[in-house]
Amino acid sequence: MLRHLLNPMDLSVEETQDLLLLARDMEADPARFSSLCRGKKLATLFYEPSTRTRLSFEAAMLNLGGSVLGFSSADSSSAAKGESVADTIRVISSYADICAMRHPKEGAPLVAAQHSLIPVINAGDGGHQHPTQTLTDLSTIFNLKGRLSDLVIGLCGDLKFGRTVHSLMTAMSRYANVRFVLISPPELKVPSYIRESVLEKKHIPYTEVTRLEDALPQLDILYMTRVQRERFFSEDEYLRMKDSYILDAEKLKLARPDMFILHPLPRVNEIAVEVDRDPRAAYFRQARYGVYVRMALIATLLEVI
Ligand code: NCD
Repeated sequence: MLRHLLNPMDLSVEETQDLLLLARDMEADPARFSSLCRGKKLATLFYEPSTRTRLSFEAAMLNLGGSVLGFSSADSSSAAKGESVADTIRVISSYADICAMRHPKEGAPLVAAQHSLIPVINAGDGGHQHPTQTLTDLSTIFNLKGRLSDLVIGLCGDLKFGRTVHSLMTAMSRYANVRFVLISPPELKVPSYIRESVLEKKHIPYTEVTRLEDALPQLDILYMTRVQRERFFSEDEYLRMKDSYILDAEKLKLARPDMFILHPLPRVNEIAVEVDRDPRAAYFRQARYGVYVRMALIATLLEVI
């Protein structure tokens, strides 16, 4: 059956759990899975910049014995000539077995899925969703804390435009006894559609604060994010917001010893480099988990496992 991953809710809680366990097995014994996708091709269609997401998808497919093709910017593809996403995907469907698409427009991967003969994975659409980053985040939390329930999760930074935040909140709303502390300037609060469709609909307890210091002592997970410069309407507004939060060693003294710091990366200024030495800094481990969970996802969507 042709399946896509456009939103974290496209996977049930059980399917998500299966992926996290499969990712663990893949990490423990990569050789066992190294020819699962032999003869299969992954197309990476990236209309927006990326380092981790694109390369971790490629590494994942190569680890599975498959091969990769694709483009990494809109101007190196026929989008620059005015080709629609619908036409592009029709063609790619006969070149590859699965594709990962990143696009600046919200909903572009959904349009692609509607015209595709191969599984489409949303690798980030505008300020909307980023489900494979969420699988990476869930995998990190599950591996480090041993659970996805009973957690107080602080989300800090650009909660308005940060698609990783929207996807993570959506996914975490399905686990028991999860509470959010939303830390942002008033201008960058969580959009109302997430507030209504996730927090209110599911009666998830949350608080909103502007000071990171006020939130830190209560958190099990601190999810830091970059202010999303490319989504701002004015550069002045970005400059005013960009250094709203800087986590440093001094502030970290307020946090619990068993709290973990996650960040989807790239980091700009929001985490001081000195924090990297703290054992609670988990963002580089997180990037590593992203490869295994993408391996698990590709193998599952291709139905080779
Ligand atoms: C994130 C993204 O693209 O949304 N990066 C990523 O995929 N790891 C976060 C960001 O760009 O700030």
